[in-house]
Amino acid sequence: MSLSTSKPSLPVSLPKRFLWGTATSAHQVEGNTHNQWSVWELENAKSLSAQAPHKLNELPVWDEIKTQATDPHNYISGLATNHYELYEHDFDIVTKMNMNMFRFSIEWSRIEPTEGAWNIEAVEHYRSYLKALQKRGIEPMVTLMHWTLPVWFADKGGFEKRANVKYFVRFARKVLEEYSQDFRYLCILNEPEAYTAEGYIENHWPPSKSNRLLALRVYLNLAAAHRQVYRVAKKTSRRFYIGLSKDVAHHQGVDDKFMTRLNVWLNKYITDYFFLNRIRRQMDWLGLNYYFSYRYQGLLRVPQDDIPVNDLGWEMRPGDMQQVLQRLYKKYKKPIIVTESGVADRNDKYRKWWITHSIVAIHRAIQKGVKIEGYIHWSLLDNFEWAYGKWPHFGLFKVDYKTFKRTARPSALWFARIIKELRGL
Ligand code: BGC
Repeated sequence: MSLSTSKPSLPVSLPKRFLWGTATSAHQVEGNTHNQWSVWELENAKSLSAQAPHKLNELPVWDEIKTQATDPHNYISGLATNHYELYEHDFDIVTKMNMNMFRFSIEWSRIEPTEGAWNIEAVEHYRSYLKALQKRGIEPMVTLMHWTLPVWFADKGGFEKRANVKYFVRFARKVLEEYSQDFRYLCILNEPEAYTAEGYIENHWPPSKSNRLLALRVYLNLAAAHRQVYRVAKKTSRRFYIGLSKDVAHHQGVDDKFMTRLNVWLNKYITDYFFLNRIRRQMDWLGLNYYFSYRYQGLLRVPQDDIPVNDLGWEMRPGDMQQVLQRLYKKYKKPIIVTESGVADRNDKYRKWWITHSIVAIHRAIQKGVKIEGYIHWSLLDNFEWAYGKWPHFGLFKVDYKTFKRTARPSALWFARIIKELRGL
């Protein structure tokens, strides 16, 4: 990858030790995973491809993606980006991006493919993986639960049962004990709210059970799991610096009427505070995954025509991240790490703009007194975007899914220069 020498400039100042990174999750990049998700993909690929013409035809990129979106293969993660084999190469890319952090998940179904039996090869794989990051001076951030469950655990009812939490805690203990010297940043859960809503209310993801009561139970069990793992981690080593990645949107009313204000409050409470209040004493830092900003009028959520949308049709308001950062800091007083933020943008039309506004939002929030320790972009590579499959492209690097060649998008080259400048390298 060659970096041009023209000097970019962003009029911002960020703390010297600010963390710059990208995030991935095992199932989305590694390839050859066998878990509840991979089973669900095989069962659902046909119907997802058949539904695509009705569900996705309004998207701005429909003409470009329709062949892929109507092909069942698109919905099977398969070899994904083959990151399991190519991780050293991918870490070289992270280095070239001038980044000092990499967030990824350790796949439970690899470490414990059958109940109670550790897979030594997988344990050693992640040891080499962590060492490969260390060797390059990249700080690892380890996510323990990025939505994929071992099949045996899902068969027992997964997080639907409080009695099952102990299995997750046992897996966590194994990871913490094995690698206690190899990483500090621990992210226990990724987006518990999205996991619960999509799998137990919206029916978009496994286990596709539409049951609000069960959803509540899962949500509460995830909070319990977080608390327990936090305690185990602190007992294992005081070095661990622990948080979670919470999906938090900006919620704003378009008027000042009572019903609108009530709706805004309800959305903040149900999607954010209900969970975060339950673990506020078990987080050293709060991870923000920022993608969405919503407008409300009365009891309705109202779309806005003048706002650009990404390839998935999501309205893009990167600047509103500032409000979210301020709101979360005011309420929880914990340092914040932006653990995800990014765009589905196959033609790289908006990514640079999105990142610029995100960095400015962070700078402004810091000026207002918010403690922010890092910005981790989603994602390093194009990857398997869950129920949408492989056509959405979130990567700074484009991936050819046949050859697995990675190619830097223009925004990646620009971002690498910005990071260099802001880190004073
Ligand atoms: C998730 C990622 C996902 C990204 C884009 C986040 O909610 O943590 O796994 O790929 O959003 O949808």
